[in-house]
Amino acid sequence: MKSRLTILALGVAALGLASCNKQPAAEAPQQLTLHEIMKDQIDANADKLWEVTNPAIGDAAGLDPAKMDDARWAKTIELATKVQDAAKQIAALDPIVAVKPGVKIADEDVPFGDSAESVQANIDKDPEGLRNFATTLANHMGDLIAAAKVKDVAKAGPLIDQLDGVCESCHLEFWYPSQKALVEKIRAEGGDPELDPAKQKKN
Ligand code: HEC
Repeated sequence: MKSRLTILALGVAALGLASCNKQPAAEAPQQLTLHEIMKDQIDANADKLWEVTNPAIGDAAGLDPAKMDDARWAKTIELATKVQDAAKQIAALDPIVAVKPGVKIADEDVPFGDSAESVQANIDKDPEGLRNFATTLANHMGDLIAAAKVKDVAKAGPLIDQLDGVCESCHLEFWYPSQKALVEKIRAEGGDPELDPAKQKKN
């Protein structure tokens, strides 16, 4: 009887604690995973950015000033700012959780596809390296925003052209390093590796 009462008392105390804790827990911002920021913010907005600038790409892969009207420049600034904010969020992640348990990443099930676990292991080996790549992307977007603000096609064109390379450099280290040797071989031969799934999606 006594022990039953003790258990009840403990139960009530625990309930009290739970309700006390409820408020701050509900308010605490949920830490996003890299995968969520990558998919919902970086990829989504980079795709929209390419949609805005692709029709203005001229003959020499540069931007055609005649096709970059005010609305396109404004949209470029808006979307580049969103990609930049997301890249800064990734750079600030601590700890860096790649993916929520049970969530699958792109191409995980294709032959030679890399798993969420292997991505996490790559990140855990060099979290600062991943943050540096994220900062490189944020800075790249900062340069693009600055060029777009003054409608400088000569500066903005190459930055847009180089953007998928900035994405791919990080992917090669942390997403699918298994393909690094192959990609570097193709690059050394002057080819353009179309292995990057983000890039394939774009095309
Ligand atoms: C700081 C490193 C880093 C940068 C920079 C980066 N990515 Fe990623 N990205 C990753 C990692 C790691 C994964 C693998 C985990 C995953 O799939 O979510 C990934 C996965 C992806 C995926 C697959 C998402 C899925 O469904 O699993 C897409 C699409 C993608 N990136 C697009 C981009 C684009 C576009 C850019 C550039 C504008 C970019 N990434 C820049 C690290 C990066």
